Parts: sequence; structure tokens; C-alpha cells
Amino acid sequence: MERGLLFAIFAVLSLLALANAAPSSINEENFDQFVVTPVRYDGDQMWSVSFTDDQTRKVIKTLNEEFDVTLWANNHAAADVLVKQSAVNKVREVLEDNNIQYSVQIEDLQKLIELEALPSKQNTATKLDHPLTWTAYHSTEDIFKFLDYLVEKYPNLCSLQTIGYSVENRPLKVLKISNGNSGNKAIWIDGGIHAREWISPASVTYIVNELVENWESQPDHIKNVNWYVLPVHNPDGYEYTRSTNRMWRKNRSKGGNNCFGVDLNRNYGYKWGGEGTSSNPCSDIYRGSKAFSEPESAAVKNFFDNTEEKKFGAFLTFHSYGQWILHPWGYGNVLPDDHEDLARVGKEGAKKIKELDHQVYTPGNSAALLYPAAGASDDWGKSIGIKYSYTIELRDTGRYGFVLPPEYIEATAKEALSFVFTVSGEIAN
Ligand code: ARG
Ligand code: ZN
Repeated sequence: MERGLLFAIFAVLSLLALANAAPSSINEENFDQFVVTPVRYDGDQMWSVSFTDDQTRKVIKTLNEEFDVTLWANNHAAADVLVKQSAVNKVREVLEDNNIQYSVQIEDLQKLIELEALPSKQNTATKLDHPLTWTAYHSTEDIFKFLDYLVEKYPNLCSLQTIGYSVENRPLKVLKISNGNSGNKAIWIDGGIHAREWISPASVTYIVNELVENWESQPDHIKNVNWYVLPVHNPDGYEYTRSTNRMWRKNRSKGGNNCFGVDLNRNYGYKWGGEGTSSNPCSDIYRGSKAFSEPESAAVKNFFDNTEEKKFGAFLTFHSYGQWILHPWGYGNVLPDDHEDLARVGKEGAKKIKELDHQVYTPGNSAALLYPAAGASDDWGKSIGIKYSYTIELRDTGRYGFVLPPEYIEATAKEALSFVFTVSGEIAN
């Protein structure tokens, strides 16, 4: 049924209702958030627009303000935008009038979303002790079952702790992998801080699986590390992308203006509220009411405040997409004193990935390569003294964007694993 029609029926029903069962503030804008009708993207397109000059930037900004055009990704050279079906003709006209080059990457986003959700062939064929496959994207519940399985099967290596709870009360589970050696350094890894970046939790769980299931044959630089892994940093958002809106980015806290969600990657406490953040609760980059206002980000801060672990050598946070290996600072065009080390290891990591499977990841400073954005977790990790802090933007470079078909999970996850090896090899020395 069409949204408008659904809304009309719903509005009449709630007027008729004697009891005040429905929140009085429902309107067409926030309708989705009260009634679980999955958001559809029929005929919506993703276009990649290249910047040649500031004029192009301005046009894109205007499109974003005047038409139904939202930004998926942008960097110093190009922007990927989602164009609603109803705006396709107008937007095409504007770009052509201004002589701006663009290419249509996704012709019908809804179709791609539906393809992505098809069950994988191997899904039922393999019989493992846990439900994860890496040939399909899985629920938070499946991921938690996998973590439980690891702890049960490898009790001397793996342990689980719940570092807090999400807005909707889902546990934030951190898996510790450690041989218990006293001289070990530590590495933090998280995935899924942004809900729609499904390849991130998929890759992080792949990394965990590779490390643990092949532990005995790992090199010393892997074994002599205490690994702390939070595969699903934003479980409410992740589940919301599975049930209701595939393109959701933020967490699910109730903000002002009847809008939901804080961008957890703008809610961390270093330079909170600076450039590249919004005070508007309806924005996709809403920073929240204050630093660490959200239970999901506060839990991570709390974990680091209370951990006995003294020697965190790396803080790796996995996102998608764009194939970037980004290092601080991200809040502005400023470099940390040891930026040469960060740049060197980033470059080394990119080289290793290229040797692995020819994929190109671009290393560098995040504000310079993408845009300044304050209150992100990488900057915070760096600010508490963790030397090798990186945001890794996994595949792809804009063909499928956030809706990366599941057949690419394994190859992408291997790239993520390769970077983890590069970093751990570095800090072992
Ligand atoms: N795509 C990420 C985001 O927008 C990049 C974050 C990079 N780090 C930073 N501190 N700006 O959240
Ligand atoms: Zn992200």
C-alpha cells in the first residue's frame, strides 16, 4: 500500500480511538517510527557525482536542500547521492544544465535490498554449532549465538563481557580473546557503529572466527595480544535496518522534534560538537545532547575507564564504504605528533591488501581525504593515548554502497583481517 494512503487510514483510526493509545505527535514525517511498515525504496537511485570545482559542490548542496536528494558518501573528489524516484527527472535536468558529470550506480535500490536479503545457498547445507556463515548477513541474535559458541568451545581463550545496554536494552557484548600471557599488548576492534554498514559486523565476526578457530597456527604477534572485540556497537540501529529501514545510520534513542537517533560516531567525547556534526535531532549526523549522552558510546568509555588493561596499542573501528584507511585527527585539518607512524602503517596496510587481492584502499588523514567530523570514536581512542587508531571504510567504492551483495562478504572480510595483521605485526615490535 502507498505510504500516503496508509497514513490517511492510520490518522483516521487514531482520531476515532477513544483511548489515547496513539502518541498525539504522529505526523507524516515521523509516521515510520510509530508504525512498523518497512520503508521502501522503489525506483530510488544512487548516483555518483564527481566534483571538479566548488560550483558542483554548491549544486549538490542545493539539490539536497530543494529536492529529495540525500548524501550517502562524499570525499574530496566525488559524492554519492540517493535520488528519490520522484526527483530523478528534475535532478537530471539540474545536473545537465550545470554540465556536471554523474553516473547512475544503483537503478532501483529496493530491488538491490531484496536481492541482498535472499537466503544464501550454503545457509542450510552446512551444519555448524553456530549460525554464522559469511555468505549472508545475519541478525544480532545469530552473532550473539556465535560469541556464546566460541566461549563454550574455547573457554581458555575466549570470554564475554557485557559492557552496557543499548537504548532498547540489547546487550553490548565484548569478546576477549587472550592466551593470558602477562606481557601482552591489547587491541580494540569494533563493528557496526553505523547501522546500515552491514559489511562491518560481518567482517569483524569473520576476523574473530579466523583468529579463534586457527589460534594455534597464528603468529606470535597475533597470539601475544589481548583482543577486545565489540562486533555490534549499535544493535538497535542494526535490527532497525533489518526490520524497517535499510538505510538507517544512527542509534534509536528518542530525540527532539519527533525524530529518532543519535549518530554514535559524533557522540564520543573528544572535541564533541565541532565541525561536521549537527545539533538537529533529525539530522543523520546528530551529535546528541552532550558527549557520551548515548548508552552505546558511554558503555565503551566506561569500559576503557575501568579496564585493568594498560597497553592498548590499537583502536580499530570498521565502517563502510569507500575503501579508506583513515587516521586522526578527524575533527579538523590537524595532525597528531606521531602522524608519520600512523601514515606509514596505514600505507603498509593498504599495500598488503593490494597484494592480497588487488583491491585499492586509500590511506591517509580522515579530515583531508573525506571531511572533518568531530566526536568520532577514532579521535577519542587516539585522545586517550591509543597510538594506532584507525577508521577502516570497507568495500566498496560506490557500485553498491551500503547494500553490498553478500557474495562479497568473504573477500571484504579478508581485507579487514589483513589490516588487523598489519597493525598487530606493527605493535608487537
Ligand atoms: N564515515 C565516517 C563518519 O562519517 C568517517 C569518520 C572518520 N573519522 C573522523 N574522526 N572524522 O563517521
Ligand atoms: Zn560509518
